[in-house]
Amino acid sequence: MKKYLKSIIAMATVSIMALSIVGCGNGGDNNSSASGEDSSVITLATNAEFPPYEYYEGQEIVGIDVDFINAIGEKLGKEIVIEDMAFDSIIPAIQSGKADIGMAGMTVTEDRLANVDFTETYVHTSQAIIVNTDSDAIKSSADLEGKTIGVQLGTTGDTYAGDVTDKVERYNKGFEAAMALSQGKIDAVVIDESVAKALAEGTENLAVLDEPFTEEDYAIAVKKGNQELVDELNKAINELKEDGTLQSIVDKYIAE
Ligand code: ARG
Repeated sequence: MKKYLKSIIAMATVSIMALSIVGCGNGGDNNSSASGEDSSVITLATNAEFPPYEYYEGQEIVGIDVDFINAIGEKLGKEIVIEDMAFDSIIPAIQSGKADIGMAGMTVTEDRLANVDFTETYVHTSQAIIVNTDSDAIKSSADLEGKTIGVQLGTTGDTYAGDVTDKVERYNKGFEAAMALSQGKIDAVVIDESVAKALAEGTENLAVLDEPFTEEDYAIAVKKGNQELVDELNKAINELKEDGTLQSIVDKYIAE
C-alpha cells in the first residue's frame, strides 16, 4: 500500500485538482458536464483522496470505486467521466446537475438521504481510529473524549468526532490529518477503516486501533427523484455482486 502514500504525497506537493477522464473513445465534446443531453455518458463526482477507494496513481484516478463504476458502465453501455472535487462538493454537484452520480466511499446517512437518493449499498465498513504510537493516551474510543481529533471535512468521521469532542480539526484530505497526527499536532484521526489502514501503513508512528466503530454502508448517490437511473445502477450492482466481480475488485485493492 506504500504506493498509495507516494501518490498522495505527489498529489499534496503538486496540489492540483485535475479533471480526469477515464475511459477512451470519447471523441466528442462532452466535457460540457453531466448528463442530460448525452445519455451515453455518466458523469461521476468523487474526491480522489481516499485510498483504496479513489486516489491518484500519477495523473490517473484509480481504486475500488473507479473499477466498480467502470464495470457498471460497461454493463450499461455507458462511458464514465470522472470529476474530482472536494468531498463536501459532491452532493451539491449532483443536486445542481453538474454530475449525474456521486461515488466516493460515500456512506448512506439520514442527512444525505434528505438531499440525494442512493442505490443499493456495495461496501459494508466502519470508522476507525488512527493513533500516534509515540503516546498511549488513546487505547479505545472512550479515550477520545475531549481530545483533538482530525477528520476529513464533511465526512461521517467528522460527525462522529463532533459527538465526542469540541476539538475537531477538519482537513480537506485524510492524508493531511494523518500527517498532523504523525507530527503530534492532534491526538487521533477518525476515518473509514480501509482508508485508515492505507494512511497509517506508510508512516512509522501511526497505528489503527482494532476496535471497530459505527457500522456504515457505501452506496452511489443519485439526484433526488431519478429513479430510472437508480434502477439501472441497481441492476448492474446486483449482477456484479452475484458474479463475484465486486469481490474481486475489492480483493485487488485490499489484501487481508
Ligand atoms: N464514508 C465517509 C463518508 O461518507 C467518508 C467518505 C470520504 N470519501 C472520499 N472520497 N474522500 O462520509
